[in-house]
Amino acid sequence: MGDANCRINIAVLVSGHGRGSNLQAIIDACKEGRVDGQVSVVVGTKDEAPAMERARSNGVAAVEVKPKNFATDEEYAARLIAVLAEHKADLVCLAGYMRILPSQMVDAYRWRIMNIHPALIPLFCGKGMYGEHVHQSALDYGVKVSGCTVHFVDEEYDTGPIVIQKAVPVEEGDTAESLAARILVQEHKAYPEAIQLFAEGRLRVEGRVVHVLPE
Ligand code: GRF
Repeated sequence: MGDANCRINIAVLVSGHGRGSNLQAIIDACKEGRVDGQVSVVVGTKDEAPAMERARSNGVAAVEVKPKNFATDEEYAARLIAVLAEHKADLVCLAGYMRILPSQMVDAYRWRIMNIHPALIPLFCGKGMYGEHVHQSALDYGVKVSGCTVHFVDEEYDTGPIVIQKAVPVEEGDTAESLAARILVQEHKAYPEAIQLFAEGRLRVEGRVVHVLPE
């Protein structure tokens, strides 16, 4: 965990089509002093992803690690861990990373990997729940409130202990697109807040509950 008064190194993991808006929000929060840390590397499954471009234009190292280039999960995990070690990552943030991480990677960084999901977990999450599917499912169900969740990552999709949630009211006439856009605004606040709590060493995981210690 990060220590008080110590700037942490953050690694951001993205998938092939990652836009990188959460990455940008994290970079901006570091620059503006809202997060005591810096993004030391972005690891992507595809070099051409917009998020990788965004990393480079912000002067952040962007390293491609293609899962399909590895024969086994162990080898993929070993490469990820090597890149993270090289860039001295204290915390790994998934931002539009669409895969289950290999268990060796989850183990090596236990409670030091976070993800952001655009719904209030445990609703509208799990395998296949990404992008527009999440918001369309929320609208089809008729919920009046959705939102976003930052959680620690365990071995399954969206099941790890919850760090922060922000609620977003559903409005009459919302489409998946309009709801997604309002939730994204909150994602960009929630992720830096969660990272700062980590950097301050204020997160304690007990069972599946994350306790936020006082300042
Ligand atoms: C976000 O909606 C996030 O909640 C989900 O993937 C999307 C990534 O968007 N996990 P961006 O690449 O950060 O713009």
